[in-house]
Amino acid sequence: MDNSPEVAVSQVMARVISSSEVMPGVYLIWLQSPLIASAAKPGQFVMVRCGDNLLRRPFSIHRLDDKKAELALLFAVVGQGTRWLSQRKRGDELALLGPLGNGFAIELRSNNLLLVAGGIGIAPLRFLIDEALEQGKEVTLLYGTVDRKRCPVSPQIRLVSATEDGTVGHRGRVTDLLPEYIDWADQVFACGPVAMYRNMALKRQQLLGAKPVQISLEVRMACGLGVCYGCTVKTENGLKQVCQDGPVFDLDEIMWDEFVEV
Ligand code: FES
Repeated sequence: MDNSPEVAVSQVMARVISSSEVMPGVYLIWLQSPLIASAAKPGQFVMVRCGDNLLRRPFSIHRLDDKKAELALLFAVVGQGTRWLSQRKRGDELALLGPLGNGFAIELRSNNLLLVAGGIGIAPLRFLIDEALEQGKEVTLLYGTVDRKRCPVSPQIRLVSATEDGTVGHRGRVTDLLPEYIDWADQVFACGPVAMYRNMALKRQQLLGAKPVQISLEVRMACGLGVCYGCTVKTENGLKQVCQDGPVFDLDEIMWDEFVEV
């Protein structure tokens, strides 16, 4: 989505500054890498070599520090690689490649940004929130979560929570909240599970009207560089590679009927 000039991808060893479990099974790790942080844009990702595994894994860039020398990754432990990453300590070094992919694009004329996060989908949206606030935009975040206290976002935004069982905020799906806020929004940005995107695409008119919607796709990636074709998806504009053409796409561009989760 972001059509700004390409910035060189860096392959670096990044030192772990800190690592903590911020929610059960979810970790926040800060890494020192001025080369990557200074070039990163919201929605982009890095490939991280996890342990002895030769293949790297993709992680959204969650935040940058004020000096753009450090970047944070927020991730859930879902397998061997992420478990290994969660066990890294201050001073350890990680092999990183990035920043990669095309990120979110905030239109100059947009003032009201409506963000929709499902669970760990908050990972790339936090960086977008920081960028939006820096640009003087208004942000509302609809957040499908389990606990309000666990929502790691800025107090400068309007936060509306939803939980399946109603323990926090709206009872039901986070997308149920969309009709209430969609008229306010100039642009919509979403990150969450494929089921959430399918629901949004299926009820496009009812939930989103004609508002432009950018989503961040999460798929398995082997190379992250457009070489292996393992991340190919069908779109209205032909086959696209999530790692290079995405991970951010227009909601309407993806052929959801033919989208296969891997
Ligand atoms: Fe290899 Fe996208 S991950 S082409």
